[in-house]
Amino acid sequence: MCGIVGAASHRNIVPILVQGLQRLEYRGYDSCGVAVHANGLARTRTTSRVADLIAQVHDDHVEGRTGIAHTRWATHGAPVVHNAHPHFSHGASEGVDSPKPARVALVHNGIIENHDASRAALQARGYVFSSQTDTEVIAHLIDSLYDGDLFEAVKAAVLQLQGAYAIAVISRDEPHRVVGARAGSPLILGVGKDGTENFLASDAMALAGVTDQIVYLEEGDVVDLQPGKYWIVDRAHKSVGVSRRPVRTVLAHSGAVELGPYRHYMQKEIFEQPRAIAETLEGVEGIVPELFDGIAHDGKTGASAQRVFHDIDKVLILACGTSYYSGCTAKYWLEGIAKIPTQVEIASEYRYRDSVPDPKTLVVTITQSGETADTLAALKHARSLGMEHTLTICNVATSAMVRECKLAYITRAGIEIGVASTKAFTTQLAGLFLLTLALAQAKGRLTSDDEARYLKEMRHLPVALQSVLALEPQVIAWSEDFARKENALFLGRGLHYPIALEGALKLKEVTYIHAEAYAAGELKHGPLALVTSEMPVVTVAPNDALLEKLKSNLQEVRARGGVLYVLADADTRIENSEGLHVIRMPEHYGALSPLLHVVPLQLLAYHTACARGTDVDKPRNLAKSVTVE
Ligand code: M6R
Repeated sequence: MCGIVGAASHRNIVPILVQGLQRLEYRGYDSCGVAVHANGLARTRTTSRVADLIAQVHDDHVEGRTGIAHTRWATHGAPVVHNAHPHFSHGASEGVDSPKPARVALVHNGIIENHDASRAALQARGYVFSSQTDTEVIAHLIDSLYDGDLFEAVKAAVLQLQGAYAIAVISRDEPHRVVGARAGSPLILGVGKDGTENFLASDAMALAGVTDQIVYLEEGDVVDLQPGKYWIVDRAHKSVGVSRRPVRTVLAHSGAVELGPYRHYMQKEIFEQPRAIAETLEGVEGIVPELFDGIAHDGKTGASAQRVFHDIDKVLILACGTSYYSGCTAKYWLEGIAKIPTQVEIASEYRYRDSVPDPKTLVVTITQSGETADTLAALKHARSLGMEHTLTICNVATSAMVRECKLAYITRAGIEIGVASTKAFTTQLAGLFLLTLALAQAKGRLTSDDEARYLKEMRHLPVALQSVLALEPQVIAWSEDFARKENALFLGRGLHYPIALEGALKLKEVTYIHAEAYAAGELKHGPLALVTSEMPVVTVAPNDALLEKLKSNLQEVRARGGVLYVLADADTRIENSEGLHVIRMPEHYGALSPLLHVVPLQLLAYHTACARGTDVDKPRNLAKSVTVE
């Protein structure tokens, strides 16, 4: 999703800006651009990759000491050059073709909800729009309020914005200044070496190798950046110093991840799961609430999980996409093992619906990136309803979500580049299983024998995952059939119903095949009408209490000529036959079985995508970090 980089320095900052964009590429984008102050404002934009933007600025000798850059993921207006950022304002009564030079250049991440009304008001004052974006409104608005001081103009402009934004702005008339502001979208300040330069970026990774001195800007902050100094005001426009916005050392990953022997990051990340799970569980000697203690930041120590776990008697899980499905799986664990009533909600639904809050609820957010706008907003909504006990299962320790939640469990999946989430999902499941055990223990529902047995099974997961990965050749054989299909059904029951949902999401995301998942018992209530020999039906069939019921559902499919692809445990007595393809899972894994059964489904999506020739790591229309609602 959109990425921002900005810089104010005494040296040419174009290489830093475009390198920063390259580091933000993993978020997904469809156009990119850069604007600098070079005796006036100059910009270069393209709907091609950042590598092409780099070639273009090199060929055109674009240089400057102050500048802003952007990767755009289209929301308002198609991904075409005239909608790409930076956007210019040339002042009122002058269009893009005007000989008058641009006065303001701006990049934006987020969505401005009142852009229609603002656009009409600005047009009435003589501003001519050259794009279909909501962003261009902000550029003209700032220009309309500009009176020689960009910081003041931005402060006045943000008061008129409704919606979410992170912005970086430069002005023709102030060659050494970049002004930023944020509300609802992430923006950080990087303090450069020797105090002679300062930066803005969507996340610390964009500045890896440039500076590790990071200030996390808060909701409503406006920041004034100059080469040797910076100045922050809060939402009330009161100046805030280092005590309220401390400079932290953040060892951000450069994002430069080698592919090694793999064809794509998605394949690499699927194969990294044994290591990711081992690292996520590293240091877990026993089940203790301290595993979930909050992370210290801003000079405050993290909150204590022990007290919170005793105080709560229900769980509310908030998440999106794949993270939502890990939450759906956890519901079975939390209610089955810890006996704690658990509600799982899609964050974008929960934030807008009327619900019945209970302060004795543990609100658990699940997010790989820790920056998903809907999940952050849902958390804030839950808090606004009086639910103060918050915990996140997150893969990025420095993310907004970890800073917002009192308690945290940081998964150690490592950076995930592929847009399709794989190792993040299984490490989330590992963290959620530990949470289940910790809550069961806090409520006196975990015997020490059970604790020892579950921990032993968890520690064996990396080995069990290796055996599942060894099934890849059999999955490739299935993928050759799937590559020719346009529809697929996924079935599961109980704990494995969310795994069927996740399998269907993976397939549609990277292959563009229409895939739907159902709880197998629902088949006869409607979806059975879809079943023909052209509809492959993938079934997750572990040897659990629901196996016999599931076998009846398989008969229902076969009787209608449907072709079955079944992931079965060793002792399920489901055998290969006409119209029934079986991959035998190496071992039955009880409550932790979802972590294993999802892996062949990830591989199926991956290999089917390769066979269809899609852009596996960057599927069309999707972004890695969904920072707008
Ligand atoms: O970073 P998050 O875990 O909050 O992201 C949530 C979803 O956007 C994400 O899981 C998405 O569904 C993935 N592309 C699925 O593979």
